[in-house]
Amino acid sequence: MEIRSMQPEDVPLAERLSAEAFYELDVRIRRPHETEPEKRSPEQAEKWNRRTRRFLDTDPEGCVVAVDEHGLAGFATSIRRDDAVWALATYAVRPGLQGQGVGKRILALAAQHGADCPRWMLSASDDPKAVRRYRLAGFDLHPQMVLWGQVDRSALPTVGGLRQGSLDDVGLLDHIDRLARGAGHGPDHETLASMGTLVVDTAGRGYAYAGTSGPALLAALDEETAVRLLWECLARTTDERAVVGHVTAANQWATDVGLACRLSLGTDGYLGVRGMAPPATYIHNGALL
Ligand SMILES: CC(C)(COP(=O)(O)OP(=O)(O)OC[C@H]1O[C@@H](n2cnc3c(N)ncnc32)[C@H](O)[C@@H]1OP(=O)(O)O)[C@@H](O)C(=O)NCCC(=O)NCCS
Repeated sequence: MEIRSMQPEDVPLAERLSAEAFYELDVRIRRPHETEPEKRSPEQAEKWNRRTRRFLDTDPEGCVVAVDEHGLAGFATSIRRDDAVWALATYAVRPGLQGQGVGKRILALAAQHGADCPRWMLSASDDPKAVRRYRLAGFDLHPQMVLWGQVDRSALPTVGGLRQGSLDDVGLLDHIDRLARGAGHGPDHETLASMGTLVVDTAGRGYAYAGTSGPALLAALDEETAVRLLWECLARTTDERAVVGHVTAANQWATDVGLACRLSLGTDGYLGVRGMAPPATYIHNGALL
């Protein structure tokens, strides 16, 4: 087994491996109330490839693959921002080869990219192998909640004090991120902008990327701003099934907003952090944290 840096030609192979590994995981751990797992669409695959090529541009040292006689056996992509936060973006080993130590070697090499960062973050799946790996790597694990369902539009309040943002706002957004999680998202704003419409508080106290099913990321300096931003994200949903994921116990305000518009509440995976507490008035993005 060779463990080495990811190269551009590995990206489509990593995409296929991750699609297969996460589909197999969804089938394996699906709970009765959850919808039937779906395979990744060609459009989602292309987005995945674009995002991963950006990781290779910004963080080549954080992107690692394992290769055996059958080809790509596993990979991890990770990013460091402001020399302060290292985030594991995505991580998978070929189904059939999992649980035999490949993931441990990949993670160890990827984590060297963040070795001198005081803060580490990741959003973990419910795979017991992943969670074991993360705890043994020193992450504190905080269960994530998810709210989903059809938004009761009659419950949506009129929300003021927000405007549409653009990439010209990145300085402000990074300032908010530094206070919320310890590092700006920097180049990741380009990827986030493809996930939703940027909505910014007119007083400069928060922002969110409002996607078609819910927030792709929400960061605020106080609860009142966070609540307004989440209402706005829910008002902007166009998918039949809204989803507000990655809500930790530090963000009870988000459960209150979701419940007020009659979304269902459940749990899904973990926020893993090292050297920091789970951010409050903050809903992280699954890969960009
Ligand atoms: C998470 C993942 C990348 C880890 O790679 P891996 O090669 O399976 O990891 P390893 O074999 O190095 O480590 C798994 C650990 O869990 C243990 N394990 C194996 N089967 C297990 C099971 N059914 N339940 C709990 N632990 C198990 C292994 O013994 C090992 O622990 P150890 O090193 O202390 O012995 C891989 O399992 C995977 O792709 N899972 C599906 C996708 C996913 O969840 N990715 C992570 C997203 S956050």
